[in-house]
Amino acid sequence: MTTVLALETSCDESAAAVVQWRNGKLEVLSQGIASQVEEHAQWGGVVPEIASRRHVEALPRLVESALEDAGVVFADLDAVASTVAPGLVGALMVGSVTARTLSVLHQRPFLAIHHLEAHLASVQLAPEPPRPPYLVLLVSGGHTELIRVDAQGGMERLGRSHDDAAGEAFDKVARLLGLSYPGGPAIQAVAEGGDPTRFALPKGRVKRPEGGFYPYDFSFSGLKTAMLRQVEALRSQTETLPLADLAASFEQVVADVLVDRSLRCCREKGLSTLVMVGGVAANRRLRNLMMQRGQAAGVSVQCAPLAYCTDNAAMVGAAALQRLIRGTPFSSLSLGVSARWPLEQASALQSEPAPF
Ligand code: KG4
Ligand code: ZN
Repeated sequence: MTTVLALETSCDESAAAVVQWRNGKLEVLSQGIASQVEEHAQWGGVVPEIASRRHVEALPRLVESALEDAGVVFADLDAVASTVAPGLVGALMVGSVTARTLSVLHQRPFLAIHHLEAHLASVQLAPEPPRPPYLVLLVSGGHTELIRVDAQGGMERLGRSHDDAAGEAFDKVARLLGLSYPGGPAIQAVAEGGDPTRFALPKGRVKRPEGGFYPYDFSFSGLKTAMLRQVEALRSQTETLPLADLAASFEQVVADVLVDRSLRCCREKGLSTLVMVGGVAANRRLRNLMMQRGQAAGVSVQCAPLAYCTDNAAMVGAAALQRLIRGTPFSSLSLGVSARWPLEQASALQSEPAPF
């Protein structure tokens, strides 16, 4: 039995969880999230300074409740983990300093986790977790990537967005339509009952310098501009925008592009399982479309459980436990945080001397 306390503060959710590895299975013993969404919503996006302050206020209580709800004390823990990169530096610092302080105080090892590694691990919290090799579509507010995970846990990025991440496109288009932040859930709610075929929108392909297109890459900036033009054209004709149809058409084209390129990548790379993680993976239309088309293409589709798609600490705990089980070293207590750090170098988070 291996148990970790995990913290997540990379953006606008403060979270703590206790996760355990027992009898070959991951189990979330407790988890709590203090969302700052409402406070940031009035500014139309995340204000980094406010995020850091709210993390400072929320974490002590979250840690206390996570331990209490799980029925464990510090002496029961095999490690204290926190996200250290990538994300908002001030926000990351709050979680990382808290985790390192607890680690020193209670003499428990510290494990620094990469945020994308945590999103990738979130699918392991599903009741029947998939076994690699598989292709992961990681779609969040900061990333849109296709990553092959091999049987030994090795990773290779096969596709990415050349501009906005899918979640960023949801957030920007929501603002354009006068909807609240975060844009994903707001667009999903408005799109319900809308006609997804009413507006023809571009699928954003990325040209290769040598000709043709990158088959597994994405671009959402043209789509954003097309939405702006559409809204301007409609505004010149009518007082009230057909919000449901606009939202549904946007959601549909994003889902179409993500599903088409992911399944094409599976087919061409000989992978029979597609895993979907990250905040945008919570989108109902995307989940349904991926399931339907996956089934038709003979690809088994596994989505992260809904509760673990958007940022949370349970996925950080899952990533930490995967490391502990593999027997990788602990992280240096002098490790800081980094706004940008490539997933390919996640293993450097446990190296001596610390990379940042
Ligand atoms: O993974 P996440 O919580 O944070 C990052 O690591 O970025 O993802 C947040 C993103 C936001 O852009 C939000 O609008 C989007 O995920 N999102 C959704 C939905 N729920 C959250 N997008 C589409 N549909 C949803 N239901
Ligand atoms: Zn995230």
